Amino acid sequence: IGTRMYQGRVEKSHHIVVLADQGQGHINPMLQFSKRLASKGIKITVATTLSNAKSMKATLSYSMITFESIYDDCSQGGVLGPGGFKGFLDRFQASGSTNLTRFILDHEHPVKCLVYDANIPWASKISTQLGIAGAAFFTQSCATAATYYPMYCEVYEKTPLSMLSFPVVTRLPKLRFPDLPSRTGRYPPIIIHILGQFDNFGKADWVLFNSFDKLEEEVGTPYLIFQWMKKVWNVVTIGPTLPSFYLDKRVENDNEYGFNIHKPNYSNCMEWLDSKKTGSVVYVSFGSAANLCAEQITELADALRQSNIMFLWVVKPDEQSKLPSDFSKETSGKGLVVTWCSQIEVLAHHAIGCFISHCGWNSTLEAISFGVPILAMPQILDQIINAHFLEKVWSVGLIAKANEDEKGVTASEEIYRCIREVLEGERGEEIRKNITSLKELAKEAIDTSGSSDKHIDDFISQLDPAYL
Ligand code: UDX
Repeated sequence: IGTRMYQGRVEKSHHIVVLADQGQGHINPMLQFSKRLASKGIKITVATTLSNAKSMKATLSYSMITFESIYDDCSQGGVLGPGGFKGFLDRFQASGSTNLTRFILDHEHPVKCLVYDANIPWASKISTQLGIAGAAFFTQSCATAATYYPMYCEVYEKTPLSMLSFPVVTRLPKLRFPDLPSRTGRYPPIIIHILGQFDNFGKADWVLFNSFDKLEEEVGTPYLIFQWMKKVWNVVTIGPTLPSFYLDKRVENDNEYGFNIHKPNYSNCMEWLDSKKTGSVVYVSFGSAANLCAEQITELADALRQSNIMFLWVVKPDEQSKLPSDFSKETSGKGLVVTWCSQIEVLAHHAIGCFISHCGWNSTLEAISFGVPILAMPQILDQIINAHFLEKVWSVGLIAKANEDEKGVTASEEIYRCIREVLEGERGEEIRKNITSLKELAKEAIDTSGSSDKHIDDFISQLDPAYL
């Protein structure tokens, strides 16, 4: 391992391979974490799908980061292909593990550590077999991990670790599961896959959480869960993993996520926002994966149409046909519909006063980090937990209640009522105050010598005690 000058410091240049899962919500935090490590003089290879690696190579350029394709996307034209979900996972494992092992063994620059998305079941085996360090990266919150953990013990028939001291999480809401056919009782295959992450937790040298201590250490349930996790796994918080430019800490090319699986069309949206008053625009987005049903899109459209509020709405290409036909024309003076945008640039803009969100963990952390109040419309899984914490624990958001039928659609009247409450009500004022404080704590955590920054330094120096 040689030494090199990097950003004015002499650093040892280690090599870490970061194995990212396929979705936008998984790639974003791992790519940002890679940039953070690179800014500290670590050589990084991001291992990902053929198509992602190809477009990352074409659009991103960092002197310390290279991109390597180690598997194709294993789906067939966007669908799961033969054998359904299991067939997809088997193909992913077969090609991914062979190619990744070969890549690490053959690389001229020895690999010290494999950082893998905890969601990739076979990853820990590779680091163990190759005798290198392994770090599982969990892209969701500690509270989500705590909610999944008892389910994992049930499905995988494991004896719970330290269950006696496991905090009783009675007040967390019940998760809504995706609608996939299942022969395994009440847990669909996708949930069984998600729960499998705990196998990776147990075998990893570190479990990295995209979160920050102060957020998880709030008095009450999160604190208990967090303490419990630290006792059973080597849990370290390293977030929020946002491009640091927006949090007053610029590193190389670090002015946006820089990589979008969806084709962005945001050139006009930033200009459009520039012409709007501070805090006057509602930003609406449901992340990369959720596909809203036509009824929900109609209710949202009605709420936005009836109000006199400005809005910027991300309606993904496969949802566009569900928009009322006259909607864009009718709302052209006050609203803009785009198929994708650079969300962090949008959230960082002074004009945004409220974020209607599905509460994916990245969107949740981004809203907190930019101090934007959230109107929560969670759809499934961890989004429901995140929304609960936003409203009930951190008091930085409001949940728009969904109908209690199978579809769980939120009516336009409820959406409209909540928008007004967030933008103009007393509750909104309290939310803005609280989220501004959390924003400061998020900044502190990733700033030099903040808790997450320190954890990253510790992580590197544990790989090589001579690092610091
Ligand atoms: C999903 C889960 O919901 C999430 O909790 C999990 O941790 C990862 O997988 P997703 O549903 O896509 O992710 O939501 P989210 O976690 O919010 O991630 C979406 C990402 O896409 C965010 O980083 C957001 O900034 C970005 N985005 C979204 C854009 O850049 N532009 C858009 O128009 C919409």
